Amino acid sequence: MKAVLWPRYGSPDVLNVADIDMPVPNDNEILIKTHAATVTAGDCELRRFQIAGWIWLPVRFMVGIRRPKPKALGQEVAGEVIITGTNVKDFKSGDKIFSETGLSLGAYAEYTLLSNKRVMAHKPSSLSYEQVATIPTGGINALHFVRKSNIKKNDKVLINGAGGSIGTYAIQLAKMHGAEITAIDSGEKLEMLKRLGAKEVIDFQKEDFTQKGLKWDVIIDVVGIKSYSKTIKCLTKGGRLILGNPDLGGMLRGLITSKNTSKRVISQLASYKKEDLDYLKKLIEDGKILVEIDKRYPLDQLADAHYYVDAGKKKGNVIIDVGNCREN
Ligand SMILES: NC(=O)c1ccc[n+]([C@@H]2O[C@H](COP(=O)([O-])OP(=O)(O)OC[C@H]3O[C@@H](n4cnc5c(N)ncnc54)[C@H](OP(=O)(O)O)[C@@H]3O)[C@@H](O)[C@H]2O)c1
Repeated sequence: MKAVLWPRYGSPDVLNVADIDMPVPNDNEILIKTHAATVTAGDCELRRFQIAGWIWLPVRFMVGIRRPKPKALGQEVAGEVIITGTNVKDFKSGDKIFSETGLSLGAYAEYTLLSNKRVMAHKPSSLSYEQVATIPTGGINALHFVRKSNIKKNDKVLINGAGGSIGTYAIQLAKMHGAEITAIDSGEKLEMLKRLGAKEVIDFQKEDFTQKGLKWDVIIDVVGIKSYSKTIKCLTKGGRLILGNPDLGGMLRGLITSKNTSKRVISQLASYKKEDLDYLKKLIEDGKILVEIDKRYPLDQLADAHYYVDAGKKKGNVIIDVGNCREN
C-alpha cells in the first residue's frame, strides 16, 4: 500500500511517498481503508519536533528517539473497516468509522491500523468522511476547553487562535452556551470567524488584545503565545483562562493564580471519549456546528499540504483525500 513516511524530523520535504506492506491486524486491532485524514498544527509540530519542554522527552520516546519510527504520521482518520481482530466487538467489516490515532499515528496511508483502545465512532450516513475526520482533534479539544470554561449566558469570551482546527469548533460551541464572542486570528480568516458566530474579531497581526483595555469572563488561548501576566490582566473577577497549549511556566503560574485569586486557570489536557465523538457528530448532523474545510490534497501531495499549514494560511481544516473523502 501507499503511505507517506518521514524518515527524519524536519521541514515538509522529509515526507516521502513509499510502498510498504499492508499491516495485518492482531486480535485487538482494526484495519481500515483510509478515506480522509487531516493536517493539524499538531502534525506539523510533530513532524519538525517542536514540542513543549515538559512533554518533549515522553513524546520523543514514543515517536522515535533518533528519528521517527518507520510509520506514517497523521492523527485523525476516517474510513471503512476492512478486517477486525477477534477481540474487537463494537465494529465489523464494512462499518464506516472515524478515529483519533494519538501518538500511534498512521493516518497518512491507504490503510490505517487502529488498536481497539483508540477512541472511535461510527460515521453517520449523512456526513462525509472528511467532515468526521476533523472531530477527534479540533472537535474534542474545543469541547473540552469550552466545558472547562464553565461559560454562562452572555459571558464575554475571547478565543485566541480562533481560525484553526480547534478554534472554529470552539467559537460555535461557546456560542451555543449563549456567549458573546471575540475571536482573534488574522487576514482572510476574520470573515469566517464572524460567519461562525464571533461578535467581534481582532487581527493579531495588527492589534494586541492585551493592550485594548478590555476584559473577558473567559479567555480560551488556543495558541499560547501572549505573555501570561498580560493575558491574566484581561480576565474579569472570577474569570477563567484556558491554556490550550500550555508550557510548564504557564501551568505553574496558573496554579498560583487559581490558589490566590478569584481567577481560575485551567491547563488540563483533553481526554478522548467515544460519547464526545458521538455528541459532536450529532451536532454536525443537526446543522448546529459547521465543519470548516479549507483545502483538500491527495495523499501524494502531503508535503504541499504541510507547507500550506506551516505558512499559516489554513482556515479551519485541511483534508488529505486518501480516497473519496467527500463521500457520505
Ligand atoms: N492542549 C491540547 O491537548 C492540545 C490538543 C491539540 C492541539 N493543541 C495545540 O493547540 C495549538 C492549536 O491547535 P489547532 O489545531 O487549532 O491549530 P491551528 O489549526 O493552526 O489553529 C491555530 C490558529 O491560531 C492562529 N495564530 C497563530 N499565531 C497567533 C497569535 N499570535 N495570536 C492569535 N492567533 C494566532 C493561527 O494562524 P496562523 O495559521 O496564521 O499561524 C491559526 O489560525 C497547536 O499548537 C496544537 O499543538 C493542544
